[in-house]
Amino acid sequence: MKDFLKLASGAARQAGKVVNTWLGNRRRIEYKGEINLVTVIDRRAEKVIVKLIRARYPEHAILAEEGEGKKGRTGYKWIIDPLDGTTNYAHGYPCFCSSIALERDGEVILGVVYDPLRDELFSAEKGKGTYLNGKRISVSSTGKLIRSFLATGFNYDIKRDQRNLKHFRNFILRSQAVRRDGSAALDLCYLGAGRFDGFWELKLSPWDVAAGALIVEEAGGRVTDFRGREFSIYSREILASNGRIHQAMVRVLQRSDG
Ligand code: IPD
Ligand code: CA
Ligand code: CA
Repeated sequence: MKDFLKLASGAARQAGKVVNTWLGNRRRIEYKGEINLVTVIDRRAEKVIVKLIRARYPEHAILAEEGEGKKGRTGYKWIIDPLDGTTNYAHGYPCFCSSIALERDGEVILGVVYDPLRDELFSAEKGKGTYLNGKRISVSSTGKLIRSFLATGFNYDIKRDQRNLKHFRNFILRSQAVRRDGSAALDLCYLGAGRFDGFWELKLSPWDVAAGALIVEEAGGRVTDFRGREFSIYSREILASNGRIHQAMVRVLQRSDG
């Protein structure tokens, strides 16, 4: 297990180097959809991570956002978002990271998220707690929704599916504040560190949440779907919180007004 953590942390830091080096330079941007973009740096960072993992564990499966995936038969699967917060990155907005998780027989057992600008490395192993640069961290103790500092994000097809606008309105009227910062993986890490008290989003992909969800859980938080039922990284709803405001958040997400 120690080796997995070392490998994932090293790979995330290497990807961070690539990402940092090119920040502020002219980057070629391609569009996957009307507002969903990808830079050459997403692909370069992914190659760096995948190369390091393949060199050490060639038989493991890989699920990576930019397509460097591969099947495997060992039960181990690495789940990679080489650059979470691409839109921010392309605009020079300092909020992005690399996210790497490891699944064993369908269960996420390791998660690492690295923010190369702040040099913050968040990591968690199943049953062993969450760490920020080697120091144990935990979720906040905020017990009231009205005192809570929340975060969310909006799916790229927001023009067609506007459900989250309703939730956004409902939460902004019932919490201290809601942020929308453009990196789901970092939002989850900040929740694990007690900086946010709650987070919800629709239609995220496994690479956005695999590491972050474990980071929240191992920091003492709770992760479910919008009804408070068991969470899967392959489902399209995530509700994460410090645990204390979870039911209050479920109630808001079940409202039909907004
Ligand atoms: C996106 C970010 C964003 C979230 C989007 C994601 P990307 O990932 O996590 O916060 O709102 O839904 O797709 O495209 O920057 O890797
Ligand atoms: Ca992402
Ligand atoms: Ca990405």
